[in-house]
Amino acid sequence: MKTIRCRINGDLYERSVPEHKTLLHVLREDIGFTGTKEGCGAGECGACTVIMNGRSVNSCLVLAAEADGATIETIEGEAQDGKLTPVQISFDTHHAAQCGFCTPGMVMTIKDLLRRNPHPTRDEVVEGIEGNFCRCTGYQQIIEAVLDAADNGAAEDIVARDAVAARLAPVDPVGTGAEKGERDA
Ligand code: FES
Ligand code: FES
Repeated sequence: MKTIRCRINGDLYERSVPEHKTLLHVLREDIGFTGTKEGCGAGECGACTVIMNGRSVNSCLVLAAEADGATIETIEGEAQDGKLTPVQISFDTHHAAQCGFCTPGMVMTIKDLLRRNPHPTRDEVVEGIEGNFCRCTGYQQIIEAVLDAADNGAAEDIVARDAVAARLAPVDPVGTGAEKGERDA
């Protein structure tokens, strides 16, 4: 077992996890964030996408032990106080989710994309979501949703929320002797 400490959606968590357990399974089973989905479990489908230290990752390929000291963003941190993000609103408007299984991973990939490229072209959106499979909606609606969200302040919304998150203390990995943060959920 290894004790890890990380910040997820702004809150601090500390858990003892088996060395071999993936971040995906710790998020779902140990922390209760079941919004992150398991599809293939092998890095192929993108359903498990979260953002770790500012970059989207397939959480089925990341050991939770590697997340010690990490800052993680999951779908649970997107809508706040009942208010959807511009990307989520645009998904709704464009009917970009049917069964919704791919949607959490898709939304996190798009967040990463818009952070790096606030106003992507259609081709850049296609390239950006190429690692996320959707089996039922069809990609056209998803692409339209991203382009529309970018036109409606999605990147600016991300920047504003990042400014708030930047005020939080960095997370010290377990074993550094640092004090635990303000909340250990
Ligand atoms: S479940 Fe992780 S990529 Fe498919
Ligand atoms: S909405 Fe069903 S897999 Fe994408």
